[in-house]
Amino acid sequence: MSFELGLHCRDCGKQFPSQPLAGCDACFAPLEVAYDLAAVGRAVKPQDLLSRPHSIWRYRELLPVPATPGPNERPVGGTPLVAAPRLAKALGVRELYIKNDAVNFPTLSFKDRVIAVALSKARAFGFRTVACSSTGNLANALAAAAAAEGFEAYIFIPEDLEDAKITATLVYGAHLIKIKGNYDQVNRLCAEIAQRYPWGIVNVNLRPYYSEGSKTVGYEIAEQLGWRLPGAVVCPMAGGSLIGKIAKAFDELQTLGWVPPASTRICGAQATGCSPISQAVKRGLTEFEPQRPDTIARSLAIGNPADGYYAIRTITSSGGWAEDASDTEIVAGMRLLAESEGIFGETAGGVTVAVARKLVQQGRVDLERPLVLVITGNGLKTLDAVRSPAAQIPVLAPKLGQIAAYLAAPFPPAHAVPQPTVSIA
Ligand SMILES: Cc1ncc(COP(=O)(O)O)c(C=O)c1O
Ligand SMILES: [Zn+2]
Repeated sequence: MSFELGLHCRDCGKQFPSQPLAGCDACFAPLEVAYDLAAVGRAVKPQDLLSRPHSIWRYRELLPVPATPGPNERPVGGTPLVAAPRLAKALGVRELYIKNDAVNFPTLSFKDRVIAVALSKARAFGFRTVACSSTGNLANALAAAAAAEGFEAYIFIPEDLEDAKITATLVYGAHLIKIKGNYDQVNRLCAEIAQRYPWGIVNVNLRPYYSEGSKTVGYEIAEQLGWRLPGAVVCPMAGGSLIGKIAKAFDELQTLGWVPPASTRICGAQATGCSPISQAVKRGLTEFEPQRPDTIARSLAIGNPADGYYAIRTITSSGGWAEDASDTEIVAGMRLLAESEGIFGETAGGVTVAVARKLVQQGRVDLERPLVLVITGNGLKTLDAVRSPAAQIPVLAPKLGQIAAYLAAPFPPAHAVPQPTVSIA
């Protein structure tokens, strides 16, 4: 049995039957999937999940997907929630966890979650061709899933994306099109394409469904903490969708009674070079001012975020906060995460860690309750950010004597015992 009721408008509440449609025809606000939560609560209990696989499909009653598993369902999600004591010490918090979507299957970012849900719906609506505008990770995720599920895929990106994200899209046989312009221009173009072509554009006409996939990050965090909510979450923001969906997941779990009631400070992280949402929060505004992005965190370079207004509302109404990090701080954040916890996140991960440090320093998080950092993508996709061309890597002959001489040499001592470049004392 499916518990999906259709779509409703986030602002005026107008209801619509389930269909590929992004905005309300009465007030132009975004649409959201509605569920019969009371019926979910009667039909499913947390212990019923124990026998299910660790993937997003575990929470199928809370997603707009078929009631029973289909042949196209692949094991997306179910990523580790890793205790991070060394990073906790560096940041000055007691209980810290990394939600590690840098290892999400199959393309190493949380975007595999949203794509899995979007393509499930694309299939139900009868689309043969799917498309997206992307800052890179969504491109990888859509290309891979379209290949595995037999869809034709058209992917539109700004022309300055990282090589790894381009190669890891093309390899799946997707049609990749670079647009001269930034993401916001690419996205506007895709809204026009949606009017002309009979395509399921995952972040345009399928957006209400696609975005629901992000709720699974929140369900997993709560379940992995033993069905309790953290004191605070720090989440990177681009379009501002993921952060709102984590908050929605926590709200739904409280409504269902699957977690004890608790407040979670929902905190947002952006790059200073593209920070419309964090700037609005810091200035006490309810609306953001669009920006022209200029940051190494290209995955977050959305200057006119579709869900920015709602992200601001989510953050402020939860008692959370938002901050942003310069390019230098982003790189330091990536290195700190790698050197303290052995997790290589992409630039967005550097943003999250750098912002978490600021939020702790500013006293914005409750140090007595668990803090969760959401690491959303893999560092192997943004190698340039941490490449150090000047690094002296010794090249020695395959002789023990050479190694002994190298280790005995007084200089440079840093080579004898690798030192963290970022203090974690
Ligand atoms: C690695 C990574 N983290 C976070 C985000 C932000 O997600 P949202 O657009 O839902 O705010 C993105 C979006 O592209 C991303 O690629
Ligand atoms: Zn409306």
